[in-house]
Amino acid sequence: PLIPVILSGGAGTRLWPVSRRAHPKPFMRLVDGESLAEKTFRRALSVAAGGPVLTVTSRDYYFYTRDLYDGIVGEDHEHPFLLEPVGRNTAPAIALAALYLERKFGPEASLLVLPADHLIRDEAAFRTAVDEAQALAARDYLVTFGIHPTQPETGFGYIRKGQRIENSSGREVAAFVEKPDAETAREYVASGDYDWNSGMFCFQAGAFIKALEQHAPDVHEAVTACWAGMDRFRQPLEIPAEEFGQCPAISVDYAVMEKSDRSAVVAGDFGWSDIGSWKAISELYESDAAGNRIHGRAVLVESTDCFVQGDKRLVAAVGVKDLVIVDTGDAVLVADRERAQDVKEVVNQLTDLE
Ligand code: GDD
Ligand code: MG
Repeated sequence: PLIPVILSGGAGTRLWPVSRRAHPKPFMRLVDGESLAEKTFRRALSVAAGGPVLTVTSRDYYFYTRDLYDGIVGEDHEHPFLLEPVGRNTAPAIALAALYLERKFGPEASLLVLPADHLIRDEAAFRTAVDEAQALAARDYLVTFGIHPTQPETGFGYIRKGQRIENSSGREVAAFVEKPDAETAREYVASGDYDWNSGMFCFQAGAFIKALEQHAPDVHEAVTACWAGMDRFRQPLEIPAEEFGQCPAISVDYAVMEKSDRSAVVAGDFGWSDIGSWKAISELYESDAAGNRIHGRAVLVESTDCFVQGDKRLVAAVGVKDLVIVDTGDAVLVADRERAQDVKEVVNQLTDLE
């Protein structure tokens, strides 16, 4: 079977002040009123073919997430949850999922790893790409979905496309470089040889566990220790804090994908966005004649190319351009549109991220 694994953990600090620790990015509502978490769950259901969708998340987010899912499939469903006591980044989260599913369905169970905070516009094209990825996973590849890069973004992983794989539209991954510096990213994009890593993956449980044992034995060991003495049929399954706390915090990109020589890339031409910044959010809105995009109530006088998101209060601006203005009950963000990535610096400087 193909089991979608939804990862939901990060706070999404570039989307402050709406994304907070208590209300992270997957729970933000988009223009159409639906959250990214709901969209991801629906997408997962569409590829699960009636089977389970596994969610790995913090125990702090369980009830909220469960409520969103109940709203979609009703309260009696049995889509399992693995609840992390603390965040240890994506390698341990995926390792938990792989070990859980290997025990349940055997080493040939395929995992489709889906971050809970991505947007995909063409769902049909997505399902076609997933079929292609699953076929490669069955041939023991660790498959990534490559996105055609449009700018030298430094927050992404880069995949150098290698040889075509026989009987597949996929290619071998010649090199995987997680978050290169700006200079390197510019070279990569100009060369045309690289895709962005979407952060979605497809592989068999057994193949991933083997790669983990080889490339990140400390993660493998710590996560394996979590299962000892645990009643793995309980739901939701709470991962023990003492053992999981011992696990190093590292992303799957650094722990496995950069090191594996058995990776493949499938083209992700399905209108992907990771909604990484206010600039990306603003692009979901229609702009008016002056290039302004507005969510909520705003009056803009002689202002152009601004994005304004108001919560309850009226927002007004005069004679400004290229700004992002986001007002919530207790905080206001004013940023240069092109500096939207640096909003995370605000959060870094807050001693306590609410
Ligand atoms: N369950 C769980 N536990 N989920 C986590 C954890 C964790 O400890 N840490 C992160 N996640 C989830 C996040 O919520 C997000 O949905 C996803 O895993 C990826 O984590 P990010 O923190 O957003 O990673 P990134 O954006 O820095 O980089 C990744 O995504 C890029 C594309 O968006 C990498 O895979 C890059 O290579 C990729 O280009
Ligand atoms: Mg991300």
